[in-house]
Amino acid sequence: MLRLDKHLCDSGAGTRSQVKLLLKAGRVTVDGRVCKDGGSRINPDTQQVALDGAVLGGRRRTVVMMNKPAGYVTATRDDDQATVMDLLPPQMKHLELKPIGRLDKATEGLLLLTNDGELLHRVISPKKEVPKVYYARHEGRAAEEDVEAFAGGLVLGDGTVCLPALLEPMGEGQSLITVREGKYHQVRRMMASRGLPVTYLERWKEGSLTLGDLPRGQVRELTEEEIQSLDRGESCPDSGNTVNLLE
Ligand code: URA
Repeated sequence: MLRLDKHLCDSGAGTRSQVKLLLKAGRVTVDGRVCKDGGSRINPDTQQVALDGAVLGGRRRTVVMMNKPAGYVTATRDDDQATVMDLLPPQMKHLELKPIGRLDKATEGLLLLTNDGELLHRVISPKKEVPKVYYARHEGRAAEEDVEAFAGGLVLGDGTVCLPALLEPMGEGQSLITVREGKYHQVRRMMASRGLPVTYLERWKEGSLTLGDLPRGQVRELTEEEIQSLDRGESCPDSGNTVNLLE
């Protein structure tokens, strides 16, 4: 159940103050009856809300950031396993969000979801090359030759050719990796190909977006400004900064 005024805003009927005026003017109906109380609770899945007689879809363009915990698969549904959709709060369930790209079940960190199909394809398009920064714990210590191999574009065991990527060793068993594509198990396979098998993986950044203080397992909506930065395909500030995040 949602507040009627929130549902109206979410559906693009107007800002909160505009919605207040629309309600007051009797221009909003719920199941055909005028409703002036913005605080009344409605179920957008079963009730019909209309403005000036036109039924509202209740599905505005939304992009959310999730701090994904391990143990959830990146899928909209799965018969056996918990999916990232299970982490969405009830008021986001009707928005028909879909993950933008994917994180492995064991991978944690930044995952975007949207109901804007065009944005989804633009962000995951290999042409766009949106940089993604991962923190990895791994066996061994990454060396200068590994950094050079990443920079030159790795060729994986099965012949898959990777775009040049940035490897920033952080001492024994820890590195930051920046990739500009999203191949299957990409970071794990790249690291394994250098004899540095990953034991823990977390995505810290996508484009210019970082997790900030979003707690693990929580989601928040992106601001319009953040959505526009994604639209413009803005990249991360100098990835060298990311090392400071550990300090
Ligand atoms: N690369 C991986 O190997 N796994 C992820 O979840 C993301 C990138």
